[in-house]
Amino acid sequence: RPRLNLVRLREMAARDEPIAMLTCYEATLARLVDAAGVDVVLVGDSLGNVVQGRSSTLPVDLGHMAYHTECVARGLSSAWLIGDLPFGSYEASPQQALESAITLMRAGAQMVKLEGGGPMVETVRFLVDRGIPVCAHLGLTPQRVHALGGFRVQGRDAAGAETLVADAQAMAQAGAAMLVLELVPSAVARQVRAAAPGLITIGIGAGPDTHGQVLVLHDMLGWTPGRRPRFVHDFSRDGEHTRSVQDAAAAYVAEVKARRFPDPVQHGY
Ligand code: KIV
Ligand code: NA
Repeated sequence: RPRLNLVRLREMAARDEPIAMLTCYEATLARLVDAAGVDVVLVGDSLGNVVQGRSSTLPVDLGHMAYHTECVARGLSSAWLIGDLPFGSYEASPQQALESAITLMRAGAQMVKLEGGGPMVETVRFLVDRGIPVCAHLGLTPQRVHALGGFRVQGRDAAGAETLVADAQAMAQAGAAMLVLELVPSAVARQVRAAAPGLITIGIGAGPDTHGQVLVLHDMLGWTPGRRPRFVHDFSRDGEHTRSVQDAAAAYVAEVKARRFPDPVQHGY
C-alpha cells in the first residue's frame, strides 16, 4: 500500500470511498492496524483513559502525546497519522497552539486535531497558514466534559444543530481539512456534511453518513470494561470465534468500507 496523504484522502472523500480510522498509542499495535488496512490512525488523548487508566482526558499533557505519537509513527508504514492536541496545550492563543502542534509534527504527526468551535477558528487558520494540516473536532468534545455536564449526545435541539453546522462551516473556511463529529444525531451529521463540502467528515456515534468512521482501538477490540456506549461494536468477536487484533481491525475496515458499520438503528442516535 502506498502511504496515505491528504490529496488521496480528499480524493477518497470526493468519490465517497469510506475512510476507516482507529486510535492507537504504541508501535506494535500500530503495525497491526496498519497491516489491517486502516487509512488513518489517531493518537488520541483518549490514551488518558485506555493507557493511563484515568477517568477523563484532562490530565493528559503534551509530553505524553509526543511520546505516544513517536511510538505510533515508528509502527506505521501506510496510514495517515493524526496527533491530538491535549487539554491546555492550545486554547490560550494561536501561538501556543502552533508551538504544541510543532512538537507533535516533530514527533511524527502529519496532522493535529483540536477540540472546539467558534473561539478555535482563528487558531485553526493560524496553523493551516503555517503549513500544519488540522482536523477539527465538534459535538461531544471530551476535554469539555465538565462544562457539557457529562458524556451526552450533542446537537439534539434545533439551536444546537445550527451551532454545529455554523462551526463546521467556519472550520472549513479557516482551512481545516478534516472534522471529527462525536456523539451527534445521524441527521445532524448529514446536515454538517452537506453544509461544509470542503471537510472530510469522520464520525464516532454520528451515524453512517460521514465520509469516514473512527473508534477507540481498545473499544473496537472489546478490551474496555464496563457498559459499552451504543456506537461501539466489538470486532474481536466473530460468533463463537475470537479474532486476532489484526483480523479484528481488518473486519472493522471491511465493515466501514462496505458501509455496514455503523448500523443506523443499532449504533446511531
Ligand atoms: O482521543 C480520541 O480517541 C478521540 C476520538 C474518539 C475521535 O478524539
Ligand atoms: Na481526543
